[in-house]
Amino acid sequence: MTTTSIRPLVAGNWKMNGLSDALGEAEAIRDGVAALGGRAPSVLICPPATLVAALAARMERSALRVGAQDCHWEPSGAYTGDISAEMIRNAGGTAVIVGHSERRAGHGELDRIVRTKAAAAHRASLLAIVCVGETKGQREAGLTLDVVRRQVVASLPEGATAENTAIAYEPVWAIGTGLIPSLTDVIEVHAAIRRELASRLGETGRRIAILYGGSVNPGNAGELLSLPEVGGALVGGASLRAEDFLAVIRAAMPETGSALA
Ligand code: 13P
Repeated sequence: MTTTSIRPLVAGNWKMNGLSDALGEAEAIRDGVAALGGRAPSVLICPPATLVAALAARMERSALRVGAQDCHWEPSGAYTGDISAEMIRNAGGTAVIVGHSERRAGHGELDRIVRTKAAAAHRASLLAIVCVGETKGQREAGLTLDVVRRQVVASLPEGATAENTAIAYEPVWAIGTGLIPSLTDVIEVHAAIRRELASRLGETGRRIAILYGGSVNPGNAGELLSLPEVGGALVGGASLRAEDFLAVIRAAMPETGSALA
């Protein structure tokens, strides 16, 4: 966990998965989280945009939050196929992932675009989960810390605070591969991100949640989530099945995290 006493955040990124029958899986997650009581971490599900409104309606009066996976930087306009942060808010979402590597690589999103999207999230009162992470080539070239620090600095908009922003460190080569960095490497990168946040933003930068993402599963979540400055997880594949996601969520509870490690 982080060195500060922030409640951990476990976020599920369903990516382009889920038809309407996936809402039942989310209900199982909601009920499982309710059974954990007050010690449960903060839990967020980011389904495809088509399910945000329906999921938010089903999660009403529960502790589960619903978010989206991307947004445009403008509030409205002639941007075919895009959705705005305001639309996500209007659909009942309270968070949005920006700068995921699948958007940086697949849609050419540069840091400055990610920054405008995070600013849009803030404008619409959404939590912006800003993703950063190195490619395999960058890691092998010893560039990880430089790349990640540069992404953090260039992707964060003015006015980022611990209340409106989380960072997700997702090594690109660890996403969907079953591979994770060594625990020492995770500690090193999270510490570097924390230093950058603290030096740029001061007190609020010391409290911004830094999530780890990339092949998090029930088997490794306990040890990953017990590391210093790991304030939660951004989970892809393992968030699609309630049983697996609940196991990751339980691992984020301080009492059980170390037991699962
Ligand atoms: P996996 O957990 O499937 O590796 O995906 C991670 C991710 O990209 C979450 O945003």
